[in-house]
Amino acid sequence: MTQYLLEMKGISKSFAGVNVLQNVQFTLMRGEVHALMGENGAGKSTLMKILGGIYSRDSGSIEVKGEAVPNMTTSAAARLGIAIIHQELNLVSDLSVAENIFLGREYRLKGTPFVNWPRMRKEAGRALAQLGIEIDPDRPVGQLSVGQQQMVEIAKALSMQADILVLDEPTAALTNREIDALFQVIASLKKKGVGMIYISHRMEEIFQICDRITVLRDGQYVGTKQARETNMDELVRMMVGREITERFPKVKVDPGPERIRVENLSVKGKLRNISLSVRSGEILGVAGLMGAGRTELARALFGVEPLEHGRIYVDDRQVTIRRPIDAINAGIALVTENRKEEGLVLSLSIRENLALPNLGSLSAYGFVKGGEESRLTEHTIRQLSIKTTDGEKTVGSLSGGNQQKVVIGKWLATRPKILILDEPTRGVDIGAKKELYELMNRLVQEGVAIIMISSELPEVLGMSDRIIVMHEGRVTGEFLREEATQENIMYAASGGGKLNAS
Ligand SMILES: Nc1ncnc2c1ncn2[C@@H]1O[C@H](COP(=O)(O)OP(=O)(O)OP(=O)(O)O)[C@@H](O)[C@H]1O
Ligand SMILES: [Mg+2]
Repeated sequence: MTQYLLEMKGISKSFAGVNVLQNVQFTLMRGEVHALMGENGAGKSTLMKILGGIYSRDSGSIEVKGEAVPNMTTSAAARLGIAIIHQELNLVSDLSVAENIFLGREYRLKGTPFVNWPRMRKEAGRALAQLGIEIDPDRPVGQLSVGQQQMVEIAKALSMQADILVLDEPTAALTNREIDALFQVIASLKKKGVGMIYISHRMEEIFQICDRITVLRDGQYVGTKQARETNMDELVRMMVGREITERFPKVKVDPGPERIRVENLSVKGKLRNISLSVRSGEILGVAGLMGAGRTELARALFGVEPLEHGRIYVDDRQVTIRRPIDAINAGIALVTENRKEEGLVLSLSIRENLALPNLGSLSAYGFVKGGEESRLTEHTIRQLSIKTTDGEKTVGSLSGGNQQKVVIGKWLATRPKILILDEPTRGVDIGAKKELYELMNRLVQEGVAIIMISSELPEVLGMSDRIIVMHEGRVTGEFLREEATQENIMYAASGGGKLNAS
């Protein structure tokens, strides 16, 4: 008989009368990487929060190393060697990297209440070095990129020397290099006998590193498979309960007039002489490695990054964009990559979040018209299939992927002419991804111009009409849909220059 490192049985949980987990089971062995899969809102993060003692279960049992844990709390979880890398970053922006890593477990100078800073800095540096990254442990976390913050979150969990490590969407914000480093760490932890629970919507990763795969659907246990005995199609069927045939349902639209033209746009230290144009009905993909300046480009067009020089034309008229309100008035919307910091207010309801950028169009004499707001909310929930009982739920109570849909819905409601999407499908499940692509199709058919920044090459290749590639703040390649390949994009993204440039 195998003794499991972890065994969860009959786990059920409801929030305010809504069942989110029903009779779910899960086991983990030493040295195993066990994937937990399912659509947005399937209950993956909730199951892990129950394991970590953040939520209490309504029923079911948890055994860790053969020991029943009737009352799992966060401190019991820590004592049992359970560490969780949460999907939504849990760092304190104003504290340094080292302070974040050791928050609540600070080293003290022997026999004193004083914090042992040199030791904490050293240990933090070591945890980061293990991941192959150089970040100054004294830097405030708020100054780091989302990817670097994610690495700090991972370093924090690693420094706990856990026996059971949960990784909830750890790679969504990481560069390929960071992902490689993380996978090496996972391989070495595996050798040490650490059991890992791995949550990701990226199929390729699942098959690359996982031994077994458990699928949840609508809070119910669907099944567990050995990774080498299953395949992507079977998993998709288990997750969504139907076949998904075309992953990228691209519809080609005859492009109309030029919607936006950017000439020689520069941002000090970040962007150099970017020129581009997008026509109505067109999707321009923006590829490049993390740090290539793609997000800065989006922010510059949206009036967040001050321009050093450059001109922006919307519908052939030059516009001056100094603040986001100028961009919104010019018909530009930006769906940011960092939904937690820029996109949403988690403590407000879906309805309130949707209304935030739209106050202009929804208010009459300074009062928000309640009727229109609820119509907009219901429409958005339906249009984007946001999984919620109603629009009054706080956004913080939605699953990660559904939060992303609220961000998109919020900007669609401004009826933009130019929609900039920065990593639109990050953390979004395979079914919802397809819904988002279909939505993009509808928008371009209505004449919107879309600029889509994405690190997922299949998505860039699958949905763009044209692709520009950035490297170190410059455009290093431009390809028509027909001529773009993984290879020529990667070549340009690494600064290699133009291959087959049009
Ligand atoms: N604190 C909470 N209050 C109310 N409902 C919640 C709360 N936390 C989660 N839920 C609900 O539980 C369901 C499962 O959410 P969960 O976050 O576990 O999904 P998930 O599988 O992790 O999805 P994703 O892939 O989007 O991260 C969702 O419908 C969500 O709205
Ligand atoms: Mg989740």
